[in-house]
This record gives sequence, structure tokens and C-alpha cells, in this order.
Amino acid sequence: MRRLLPGPAGDLDDDGLVEAYRLPPGRSVRVDFVASLDGAVTVDGRSEGLGSPGDQRVFRVLRALADVVLVGHGTAASEGYGPVVAGSTLGRMRAALGRPAELPIAVASRRASLVPGDRLAVPPTVLVTCAAADPGRRAALADAGVSVLVCGEDDVDLPLALDRLAELGHEQVLCEGGPVLLSAALAADVVDELDLSIAPALVGAPDRLVAGALPDIVRLDLRQLLEEDGVLFARYALLHHPLRVSAPGRAP
Ligand SMILES: NC(=O)c1ccc[n+]([C@@H]2O[C@H](COP(=O)([O-])OP(=O)(O)OC[C@H]3O[C@@H](n4cnc5c(N)ncnc54)[C@H](OP(=O)(O)O)[C@@H]3O)[C@@H](O)[C@H]2O)c1
Repeated sequence: MRRLLPGPAGDLDDDGLVEAYRLPPGRSVRVDFVASLDGAVTVDGRSEGLGSPGDQRVFRVLRALADVVLVGHGTAASEGYGPVVAGSTLGRMRAALGRPAELPIAVASRRASLVPGDRLAVPPTVLVTCAAADPGRRAALADAGVSVLVCGEDDVDLPLALDRLAELGHEQVLCEGGPVLLSAALAADVVDELDLSIAPALVGAPDRLVAGALPDIVRLDLRQLLEEDGVLFARYALLHHPLRVSAPGRAP
């Protein structure tokens, strides 16, 4: 892995990669995706076909640094999400960084689609849902030890959900998609950073980074660019949010 921007260019070891993605203390929402050059995020319905060893390393570093992973139920189901436990490689990596070894997964699901018996339906998983979701299912998940956050009436109120996660101590949120959740997060203007792995491939698939139209164009500022085996790893800051434009060194 080598750093291209900001200069000077140079190789990054494991510690350097952690430092390259470390955030200052405080609340943040960063989004992690891998996409092809034509914006596809899946090959045959999964992200795996776009991955690379470098992407896996960045994925692990982002998880190692996060307080919580926020993911849409569609992605959690199609990618086979399970809990991040203390004895796992990631758990040990987090412990070595002085973080709690367990990493809670917060599943966003308007319908509370997670079901008891599901791999994720155990503590410390969080369900981010709304009052319209089936009350019986919400209660059964709570009985299974899932922290059920009811945020909003008919739809999940994402700013409220992030407040509730912060109240639980989960200030630094890593959103791993998918496209439906990212679209809602952009529309709610809650995203601070997009960490995009750009695979040198053209896929021509319909699953794109953002699902559907956005209320407005979202502009981003390239803050960092790494490269390995032709894959680019970009850190973009989102610019249109008042908090973002007042960031140090940035003109409104
Ligand atoms: N390349 C990558 O880096 C990457 C990353 C992530 C995902 N993916 C791919 O993307 C595909 C999954 O995408 P997807 O379209 O299913 O998106 P998704 O956002 O993962 O899942 C959509 C579902 O999540 C819930 N959800 C999402 N946003 C919500 C919100 N704001 N409020 C409440 N619930 C919300 C809803 O669940 P309910 O229906 O239960 O209410 C919705 O039906 C998979 O093929 C996956 O492999 C690729």
C-alpha cells in the first residue's frame, strides 16, 4: 500500500494504514464502499467480486477504528453479516488498538426484518427501526438481547438514530451501506466521509453506489488517496453540510 496524496508519496505499513484512517475524537459518520470504475457495487449480487487484499485491509482498519457498524438489512442479509467477537482477528486488532474487542453491528431496518435465531440477533447487536415495525418482532428481538432503537414513526429518522447511538457511546459510526441506506443517509445529510475503494474494473451491473435519485448533488473533497495493485483507496469529505464547511482549513 502506498500513499499518493497528500504528499510526500511513500509506502504504508500496517501502523501507517491505521494512522491514515484514524479520526479525531467526536461524532462522525464515515461510509465505506468498494465500487468499480462504472460505479457498480456488486458482481452477482455481492461485493466480493470487486474486493482485493488491499480493500480487505482497509475494511478491517475502518472496522478496527469504529465504535459501531451501521448497515442496511439488505446488505447484512446478502453479505451474511455476523457479530464481531472478541476472539476474532478483528477483535484482537481492536484490542491491540485499545478499543473494545467486540464491535456492535447496528442493523437499519424499517420493518425490523431481523428475526430471532438470526446470527445477528444477539447482544451487542442494535436494531435501528421505527414505530411502524411489527411490535411483536421488536419485542422478541429485545428479548433475545438486541438493543432495539425505535427512531421515528413511519420511517427511520437517521439523525435521531445517530443521536441514540451516540447516547449508547457509539459516536464514530462506520456505515457499510448498502445503496438504499447510503441514499437515505445522504438525503438526511448525516454523512461526513466516504471511504471508497475504486476497483479497476467495469461491471455494467445495475447495483450502484447510491440507490435512486438524491434531492441535490452531493459534492465531495478528496482528502487522501492510497494505491495498491491498481486499486485506489480514496477518503472524501462531504462538503455541503454546515459542520463540514466549517472544518479547519475549508472555506464555506
Ligand atoms: N460494494 C460494496 O461496498 C457494498 C456495500 C454494501 C452493500 N453492497 C451490496 O448492496 C446490495 C444490498 O443493497 P440494498 O439495496 O439491499 O441496500 P441496503 O441499504 O443494505 O438494504 C436495504 C434494506 O435495509 C433497510 N434500510 C436501508 N435503509 C434504511 C433506512 N434509511 N431506514 C430504514 N431501513 C433501511 C430496509 O430494510 P427492511 O426492508 O427490513 O425495512 C431496506 O429494505 C447487496 O447486493 C450488497 O452486496 C455492496
